[in-house]
Amino acid sequence: MRIQPKNRRLGILLSGRGSNFEAIADNISAGRLNAAIAVVVSNIENAPGLESARRRGLETLFLPSRKRVREEFDTELVAALNARDAGLVVLAGFMRIVSSVLTDAFPYAILNIHPALLPAFPGLDVQARALEHGVKFSGATVHFVTGTLDDGPIVRQAVVPVLDDDTPDSLGARILIEEHRIYSEAIELVLSGRCEIDGRRIVINH
Ligand code: GAR
Repeated sequence: MRIQPKNRRLGILLSGRGSNFEAIADNISAGRLNAAIAVVVSNIENAPGLESARRRGLETLFLPSRKRVREEFDTELVAALNARDAGLVVLAGFMRIVSSVLTDAFPYAILNIHPALLPAFPGLDVQARALEHGVKFSGATVHFVTGTLDDGPIVRQAVVPVLDDDTPDSLGARILIEEHRIYSEAIELVLSGRCEIDGRRIVINH
């Protein structure tokens, strides 16, 4: 099955720093990524990424999630994304599990980035767990979002070496450089309509 988002309008969701969002926004501004940011949504009011989006003159939206029933929050989120005609939802450090309300509304149209080589080290404290486990390589993964956390068909991955003197911070910083590169590449691939889904494999048509 060929994957084709309905348009090139991105709905970005974030909860924190927003460096992945900034890399995407920079690539769009520089003409390296053919897309538009329809809205930047955060569930955290003072997320630095939301402030960065405001400074860039983008439409922003704060949707409080604390103590909210997941499906209710996601229903509001879907309405907000549809109202801005978002064709591809981009999770950029969005630290909230999404429900089927969101995944059903955007089938094969939600991407997430994770700072490990999935399926290794899903969840939180990723770099500390990778170091503790003693892996020699880690990296970053961009994948479609399904009902299972940090699962879903993989669009792009990048590998980084783990050094003997790494700390979670130093490893995370090395991975983040790759995240910033591959997220825009993955978005471009998906928007281009060249991705086919075969089982859980994404195959790229050349
Ligand atoms: C990134 O490292 C991203 O991979 C991770 O949160 C960070 C957000 O940084 N996401 C996850 O762990 C999701 N499971 P940013 O706010 O600077 O983009």
